[in-house]
Amino acid sequence: MISKFTIQKINDEARVEDVVGEFVTLKKRGANLLGLCPFHNEKTPSFNVNPARNIYKCFGCGKAGGPLQFLIDYQQLSYPDALKYLAKKYNIEIEEENITDEEKQKELEKHNLVESIQIANAAAQKFYTDYMLNNESGRIGLAYFKERGFLMHTIEKFQLGFAPDGFDGFTKHALNEGFQLEVLKKAGLTSSKENSTADFFRNRVMFPIHNMTGKVVGFGGRIMVKDEKSPKYVNTAESEVYLKSKLLYGAWFAKNEIRKKDECLLVEGYTDVVSLHQSGIENAVASSGTSLTPDQIRLIKRITPNITMLYDGDAAGIKAALRGTDLILEEGMNVRIVVLPDAEDPDSYVKKVGSDAFAEFIKNNRKDLILFKTSLFAAEAKNDPIKKSELIRDIIDSIGKIPDSIHRSVYVKECSQLFEMDEQILITEVNKLRRKKANDEQTTIQKQDAQQAKDSKQDQLPDSFHQQQFNEANSNLHVLERDIIRILIEFGSWKVDEEAEANTVAAYMLDDLEGIEIETLRFKPVYDLIKREFLQGNVHDEKFFTANDDEQVTNLAIELLTQPYSLSDNWWEKYKIVIPDKKSVFIKDIQSACIRLKQFRNITELKKIEQRIKEAKDETELIKLMKLHKLLIEQKKEFARTVGNVIYRPTT
Ligand code: UTP
Ligand code: MN
Repeated sequence: MISKFTIQKINDEARVEDVVGEFVTLKKRGANLLGLCPFHNEKTPSFNVNPARNIYKCFGCGKAGGPLQFLIDYQQLSYPDALKYLAKKYNIEIEEENITDEEKQKELEKHNLVESIQIANAAAQKFYTDYMLNNESGRIGLAYFKERGFLMHTIEKFQLGFAPDGFDGFTKHALNEGFQLEVLKKAGLTSSKENSTADFFRNRVMFPIHNMTGKVVGFGGRIMVKDEKSPKYVNTAESEVYLKSKLLYGAWFAKNEIRKKDECLLVEGYTDVVSLHQSGIENAVASSGTSLTPDQIRLIKRITPNITMLYDGDAAGIKAALRGTDLILEEGMNVRIVVLPDAEDPDSYVKKVGSDAFAEFIKNNRKDLILFKTSLFAAEAKNDPIKKSELIRDIIDSIGKIPDSIHRSVYVKECSQLFEMDEQILITEVNKLRRKKANDEQTTIQKQDAQQAKDSKQDQLPDSFHQQQFNEANSNLHVLERDIIRILIEFGSWKVDEEAEANTVAAYMLDDLEGIEIETLRFKPVYDLIKREFLQGNVHDEKFFTANDDEQVTNLAIELLTQPYSLSDNWWEKYKIVIPDKKSVFIKDIQSACIRLKQFRNITELKKIEQRIKEAKDETELIKLMKLHKLLIEQKKEFARTVGNVIYRPTT
């Protein structure tokens, strides 16, 4: 395991602008750098890199992190691999740590299990292929593939094979080779019932499924003759290494070609992928019979924004398949649909007409998803007003999900013609949806700008807030707690008083907030962490939080530091200029945040007590409640007095 010291050193040395700059073109904008977000498709840059904080954040999609996180998210490296990458880049020697034997054992076991499953899968693939090519009874598998037109080099490339009939041929073989039964079961290669074990795949031709690094992580096994009683395909069950929703069949073989052609062809089945690749159409992948998952969409999106979905020519299937496609629109991808001629699937059709004609067919017949959907349903809804209005609502929903406004307006125009409908009505409806969406998403850049504008307006009249009464409607617990956490992260290690060394902002605040718990679930763990560390004598600066082992802490810290809350850099900067005594303003600001939280608590508590007084049944209870009430009222007055003394700003 890489030592804490090395990790620290890497976190200190790695520069976010260097690491991100290797993959994204960044331009300077003020103190920050700005570029097109590599995690989502956009035309105007909202990907911010902040060198001072050593973090990046996209205000469009919300992705955020430091140098390490970037490598993990964008390059899909594991945590240790990302560390190693950075160590190499910055010439840092990696020091392994002496961890306890128990910890080591646990790590090793976990690591070993994943590794062992992968080795078992590789061995299984070899076994199935060997069996098909070299064993007399495996020949039927090879004959099946040949019959389907698969050539030898295709069979080898895709590492196809055959799982023998019988009971436990593979399992016996693997146990002989020294594999542990536990591992075979975890890999989904062997199933066990009561006391007996058996091969999971039997008498099927085998399609190994590769992950993005080319390792076999699972299999699809196809039956060779039609049988009503067994499923056509049997697939590996989900496991530590086989997460179906994150894999696309053929992606390992297709990724380079997808990049080159800037287009990904999406088909339904294993055989479609294999056939298309054999014909030289090598940018095809399959979602394996289900509609695309968000993870699969992102997998494609990292390579290209253009997806073309190929469907067999039967209408019922298409309508079902179109249901999940809004998800793809939402990611800002360009989705097109091709429906193949009747009774053809990509596999059969490419064999029939050859690769050139196939490519030509796609080019001439691909239709934009929304327009396709519209015309498909329009005919059947034509004479049915209810169906028609449902359909229009549905289409508006889809259009509303497209991030790009020019794209949206093109669709609106086309759809208004198709439905013979006033364009303006469609525009109004789509805009309604967009507004609702914008309200739902707090992180859009427009909203941030608006917030900033609002902040600077408030900056001009701080005095008017001095005596402002506590306005409950204006505030809520979440916002108040957010302020506290943000101050603790950003300024916690600052000295309140140069003379008294230990007197940090964190010390001051934790003392001031003694007895108050943070209630917002997202903030509580960070607050508790700060408290725990403080009790051990540690007060950390923001780097501790933005480059924390705990991803949740890192994400929250970055989110808070990159959003202009009450103590936005902007606001603070301005105060520094307006008021000569910076420090006193700063301290007052912190006091204000603490008091606002305590005040809020006081008022909610008061309300609760007043309700209980109303409902009180017996006298003793009533007296107890009245006492409490009096105490809270005194507190309330006290807060009001203090508030008058500190700069007071309402938050949004
Ligand atoms: P298809 O029936 O189209 O299979 O199902 P296919 O791979 O194209 O095979 P051929 O051409 O009939 O030989 C499409 C996909 O749906 C999943 C598989 O991933 C398959 O490739 N599927 C289908 C299953 O997982 N189980 C099944 O029983 C059927
Ligand atoms: Mn098929």
